[in-house]
Amino acid sequence: MRTFLTLTIFFSLSLTIMAQDIVLPAPQRSGGKPLFDAINERQSIKDPANTPIDWQTLSDLLWAAYGFNREDRRVVPSPLNMQELSVYVVLKEGVYLYDAKANKLFEKVKGDHRTVAGKQDYVYVAPVNLLYVVDKSKETGTGAYISCGCAAQDVYLVSASKGLACAVRTGIDKDAVSKLLKLDAQHEVIAAQTIGNKK
Ligand SMILES: Cc1cc2nc3c(=O)[nH]c(=O)nc-3n(C[C@H](O)[C@H](O)[C@H](O)COP(=O)(O)O)c2cc1C
Repeated sequence: MRTFLTLTIFFSLSLTIMAQDIVLPAPQRSGGKPLFDAINERQSIKDPANTPIDWQTLSDLLWAAYGFNREDRRVVPSPLNMQELSVYVVLKEGVYLYDAKANKLFEKVKGDHRTVAGKQDYVYVAPVNLLYVVDKSKETGTGAYISCGCAAQDVYLVSASKGLACAVRTGIDKDAVSKLLKLDAQHEVIAAQTIGNKK
C-alpha cells in the first residue's frame, strides 16, 4: 500500500512538473479604442505575420472571448447560463485549455499542431488559433453557435482595437481536432479563430 501511494505521488508530481501550464497576466478589462471605432474597423484579415504576440495581448483576447465579467457569468451570453463552451488555444509551443477563473492555460498537447487547427495555409503560420468546443451534454441546440458567435465577435473587436489580424473559421477537420484533444463524443469543435500580427 505504501509503495502504491509513493508511486502515485511520484507520477502525479512528475506529470505536474512535465506539463508546461502557462499563467497569464491579468487581462486589461478597460481602455482600448472606442467601441464604435472598433466595430467600424472589424474585418477578417487572412494573412497574419509569422511573429509571436505577447502574453498580455493573448490574455486580453482570451478574456474577451470567454472570460468572466461577474462572479459566475461570462463576457458572452449562453442559454440558461450553461457556459457550454470551452476555448482551446493552439500556440507554436502546444495546445492549451483556457481556464478563465485561474487565468491559466493548461497544457493538453505539447508541440506545434497548427496544421490541425484548420485547412488553410494562413492558419499554420499564425501565432494563435482558438478552437471553440461545445459540451453537448449541456447544449444540443443552436445556443452554442450563438455563444460562440458572440465570443468570436469580441475577439474580432479586440483585434480591431489592437490592430491585429483575425479571422473566424468553420473550415476545420473536426475529427482531427477531436483526436488531437482526445475529445469524448459529448464534445465537438464548432469554430476556430486565427489571430496574429498584421504584416
Ligand atoms: C460562420 C463563418 C464561417 C467562416 N469560415 C471561414 C473559413 O473556414 N475560412 C476562412 O478563411 N474564413 C471563414 N470565415 C470568414 C469569412 O470569409 C469572412 O467573414 C467574410 O469573407 C466576410 O469578410 P469580413 O469578415 O472581413 O467582413 C467565416 C465566417 C463565418 C461567419
